Amino acid sequence: MPTFAYSTDDPASVRADVLVLPVTEGPEPGPGVREVRRLDLLGACAAAKLRGKLGESLLVPNPGVDGLAAASVLVLGLGPRAEVTTDTLRRAIGKVAPQLARHERVATTLPQAAGRNAEAAVQATVEGLLLGSYRFDRYKTGQGAEPPEKPALAHVTVLGSARWNARAMKEALTRGEIVSDAVAWARDLVNTPAIDCTPEYLAAQARTMAKEVGLECRIWSEAELKKGGFGGIIGVGQGSVNPPRLIELRYRGASASQPPVALTGKGVSFDSGGLSIKTAEGMEWMKADMGGAASILATMKAIARLRPRVNVIAAIPSAENMPGGSAIRPGDVLVHRNGKTSEVLNTDAEGRLILADALAYLAEQKPRVILDTATLTGACMVALGEEIWGVMGNDRRLTRDLVAAGEATGEPGWELPLWKRYRKLIDSEVADIKNVGKRYGGAITAALFLAEFVGDTPWAHLDIAGPAFAEKAGDYWPKGGTGVPVRTLVHYVLSQARPPRRRTS
Ligand code: BES
Ligand code: ZN
Ligand code: MN
Repeated sequence: MPTFAYSTDDPASVRADVLVLPVTEGPEPGPGVREVRRLDLLGACAAAKLRGKLGESLLVPNPGVDGLAAASVLVLGLGPRAEVTTDTLRRAIGKVAPQLARHERVATTLPQAAGRNAEAAVQATVEGLLLGSYRFDRYKTGQGAEPPEKPALAHVTVLGSARWNARAMKEALTRGEIVSDAVAWARDLVNTPAIDCTPEYLAAQARTMAKEVGLECRIWSEAELKKGGFGGIIGVGQGSVNPPRLIELRYRGASASQPPVALTGKGVSFDSGGLSIKTAEGMEWMKADMGGAASILATMKAIARLRPRVNVIAAIPSAENMPGGSAIRPGDVLVHRNGKTSEVLNTDAEGRLILADALAYLAEQKPRVILDTATLTGACMVALGEEIWGVMGNDRRLTRDLVAAGEATGEPGWELPLWKRYRKLIDSEVADIKNVGKRYGGAITAALFLAEFVGDTPWAHLDIAGPAFAEKAGDYWPKGGTGVPVRTLVHYVLSQARPPRRRTS
């Protein structure tokens, strides 16, 4: 990881291999253009027909640029000035991040282009740079066609305005680093093949992380889960040779009397569909079916490092959904942690079965809210596409806060209705509830299933089947795990914390 420094020096005087200067598009010169004009780079931009569109960039070598200390300038397009948001910054620098990572020293005035919220702009700049240069090359030996590139980036200077509160900006830099590190870890976990990323591996990763950042950690073994009545986790896991686990993490940032925020995430380490087996194509991405679990582990890591004044607990169920000889069968009935029974009519609707136990367990702890994230339904992808998560819950204010947190962090989400009249679609003839409805409204019937296990605790469910992994590279992510919705969750949890004690002096 490079080191980040905050400075209000004159950009021209900063020694760097690359100085990144933003320009906006259109006849009106936008913020950042000031330096570009002062350094007499407008001619070079015009000659290269740079228009300032988002995604455009131009590298201008120094020789010939008067009064400039940097070895080169990267002029970075942001698109129309009126449309620039913090997410624009994240995307613009994220796109050139692989190129920037080849240099040792990078400096940028980018946050100055976003105007209103300087802290968010600084954080987004750090995130774009770090997340945009993320690569998963652990399984590349260098014997393939192209050996993986080693990043050279060591020092980043973020250049802010003298009017900004320097201490707040430094905190924003740190927040950007901590959040990006957590997101990268979530991506690593999602990208790790299921042959290695088993429930036991996830638990071991959680334990190591907890030790490193100072979280309490308890791993529930298969025997303990059986004894504890976690029939959904046991049932889904029993067709696999890799036994299931429940990962429990606790962060104490406030007094014990404060009810915690409770988190859970679907940790299906591989989803073959079980006996209701998927097609070969349908399984291609199913190592990513623990994206919800990864996002909660990463959120807990970031929270532990940011130390907000709030209590947080997580209980993350993990199982491998396989069609082995001891697998559950369509028609089987499972008894969940809260005593409710579910009839499994399709073993491929397994996520809700393991989450049911975790939700019931969390509800026992009397939390202030419960959030769950899960790559739960193809139906949610049909509704909202690959980039937007769906949120459903029993508390409109909570779902609204989560949509707002997603918007603030560049991870868009949208509410779908938890429509009570559809509850009858999951009535069972033999048990309390069945695990599938009909084809239509599949994201909603899945959420209605989960709702049965939270009691009256305010609760929201994020269906991240679309955005948890990317089938194509984007502005600041390669193909594979994206780490969504870690940024949303961290933002939400921080918003629930009491403000830090005022420091005197
Ligand atoms: N893990 C899948 C959902 C999924 C599909 C996530 C594609 C990401 C991409 C989930 O376990 C599943 O199989 N859901 C079924 C539910 C159905 C059997 C009711 C689905 O969506 O088809
Ligand atoms: Zn699944
Ligand atoms: Mn499934």
